[in-house]
Amino acid sequence: MSEILIRNIKRLVQVREPGIDRVAGNAMAELPAIENAFLYLKDGLIHSFGTMDELPSLPTSEVLDATGRFVFPSFVDSHTHLVFAASREEEFVMKIKGATYAEIAGKGGGILNSARKLQQTSEDELVERTLARAHEIIQTGTGAVEIKSGYGLTTRDELKMLRVAKRIGKETPLTVKTTFLGAHAIPAGISHEDYVRQVIEEMIPAVAEDKLADFIDVFCEEGFFTADETERIVEEGKRFGMQPRIHANQLHRSGGVQVGVKTNALSVDHLENIGAEEIEALKNSRVIPTALPGAAFFLGLSFPPARQLIEAGLPLAIASDYNPGSAPSGNMPLMVAFACIKMKMTPEEAINAATLNTSAALAIQHSHGSITKGKIANVYITKPMSSIAYLPYAFGSSLVDRVILNGKIYS
Ligand code: NIG
Ligand code: FE
Repeated sequence: MSEILIRNIKRLVQVREPGIDRVAGNAMAELPAIENAFLYLKDGLIHSFGTMDELPSLPTSEVLDATGRFVFPSFVDSHTHLVFAASREEEFVMKIKGATYAEIAGKGGGILNSARKLQQTSEDELVERTLARAHEIIQTGTGAVEIKSGYGLTTRDELKMLRVAKRIGKETPLTVKTTFLGAHAIPAGISHEDYVRQVIEEMIPAVAEDKLADFIDVFCEEGFFTADETERIVEEGKRFGMQPRIHANQLHRSGGVQVGVKTNALSVDHLENIGAEEIEALKNSRVIPTALPGAAFFLGLSFPPARQLIEAGLPLAIASDYNPGSAPSGNMPLMVAFACIKMKMTPEEAINAATLNTSAALAIQHSHGSITKGKIANVYITKPMSSIAYLPYAFGSSLVDRVILNGKIYS
């Protein structure tokens, strides 16, 4: 295994003691950092770091100079639909001309459009198409990613999607966590109740049998799955060892947040439509509220009330929701910029939300999400920058320069 020493780092960001596994409320404003730092990576792990004055003599196979540059822990993107067969820009144009998400879905577009295309695409071809996206998100600083099923909508195709997701974890240096989202939409030609039964009785056991999913998710939304159905489905998933995470309150006050709290979900994601009641429910729980600002931006929805969530003392997370229908970007620096610009989060809060809190939302906080001794050596070096705020300020610029994953230089 190789050792990498990064020297003269202008600022080493998100430096945490072991055991800090999420940051909530006021603490989100703090992003501990070391100025004029070194970082030493060995055997794929973060071995040590400190100020340049403290730099001991270390055996190294590679030395990188980071003068004028920042080093961050890689982003953890805790919500994506990275496996899909085709883009849907024709629907994008329909939306520009005034169609709503629900109207497009009602015409066989939306999730069912993606399902049709995915069902007709082979596993190997899906791997090829998804690999391109995986390499794209690595280049914008993502080191760990959650990938959901949900465009298969038959047992065969849901399993196929999850196998593709797993292969992305093997064929790239990304850490991949998988989520079974069979309850993403009701396919044509089957009744609502029959499909819920199929998810519960056929799909969940099959997914568990092949050990294909870490988590279970449901699109809890008017016209998709009710709060009661969500509860039934995730409870069954739990029996098979899949922890819940829930698509909650995207388009309506669906009760998704409350189901998430009731079923001890790891996270409730979206939250464009929440109020005092949902925030109160979250306060009495360990559930991580997750905003997906790319989806709110793309669909023109109101953004989740980040300031209220943080003022309530909660550990807000932000992820990309990368998918062909509502968020065709997995660019986490852009999500951080949206969080700052549209949700009034400070740059420090947004970085905490996209690293440590998303790692907690995937239950990988012991190995990812911060610069901590013993964690996986997933970091990126920026281009020369003046301050942390420059990252979201220069939105759309590509400031991630060099990527190191599992202690190896990726680019
Ligand atoms: O997270 N909300 C449900 N699922 C996706 C959209 C999927 C699609 O339109 O293909 C989302 O926004
Ligand atoms: Fe989603």
